[in-house]
Amino acid sequence: MKEEKLPSVVGSKSFTAVAINCAAKAGEWVKTKLGTTLQLNQKVSASDLVTEIDKGSERLIRNLISTHFPQHSFLGEEGVEPGADASTQAIASAKDAEYLWIVDPIDGTTNFVHGFPFFCVSIALAYKGEVIVGVIYDPSSDELFVAEKGKGAYVHGKRLEISKEMKLQESLIATGFPPDQSYALPLNLRAIARLAPQVRNIRSGGSAALHMAYVAAGRLTGFFEYNLNSWDLAAGSLIIQEAGGKVTDIEGHSYHLEVRDVVASNGHIHQELLQELGRV
Ligand code: IPD
Ligand code: CA
Ligand code: CA
Repeated sequence: MKEEKLPSVVGSKSFTAVAINCAAKAGEWVKTKLGTTLQLNQKVSASDLVTEIDKGSERLIRNLISTHFPQHSFLGEEGVEPGADASTQAIASAKDAEYLWIVDPIDGTTNFVHGFPFFCVSIALAYKGEVIVGVIYDPSSDELFVAEKGKGAYVHGKRLEISKEMKLQESLIATGFPPDQSYALPLNLRAIARLAPQVRNIRSGGSAALHMAYVAAGRLTGFFEYNLNSWDLAAGSLIIQEAGGKVTDIEGHSYHLEVRDVVASNGHIHQELLQELGRV
């Protein structure tokens, strides 16, 4: 009788344990490279950077994941051509995979390059198009945000809870300054101008994934940004939802892997935030 050849899988570690291990290892390695001489490459503009550390971090994560789950699919930022079209295309063709790992090896590369300690590693696992594990690791503060579908969201064993603000007026809202200066940046700037007089204040830390983690942790009331990629949002979307918050596109449709214009919040202020953004 012919023996069936099984894929070689090391051990039987849970998806979440592997995601945590990858994020922690990659984040620690990235941190050791802070302040070293970096070879900078531009993607679409001088505000869109990539370093050999982004690529090394992604390689490390991809190798570890394929050691445990060689049959799973993988979508990492550094494996995709620069630009919105290629990113849109990449998630459109990957999203139907049974198991898909979605990875941003450094979210906040500009901060990393400048030594501004607000960047992270973001790893999500989607099963048939739905995110089931999300891990975001900030090596500067050694905070690891983790969520499993239906099991809550945690940072170092402490359950994450969204903030209590009920009105936009009391809200601390984050956004980004996108590297895409022709489409996303002007939209974001108009939204900032519209929102600034109506909220408690606006922040822009420079890492979409960490902003999402901060919404889950109740440190921010909400976050919005235009033209983000699946790897910026996938892990954070689950972490926020598991912390009791809400994630939609700019029109209020529930989050899915192809969302690019995102609105995330504690839920209470979501409608008000959507309404204001709708007027931009
Ligand atoms: C960027 C960061 C930034 C956001 C940009 C993203 P990267 O990701 O999340 O906060 O404003 O739109 O591209 O390039 O550092 O992975
Ligand atoms: Ca990113
Ligand atoms: Ca990145």
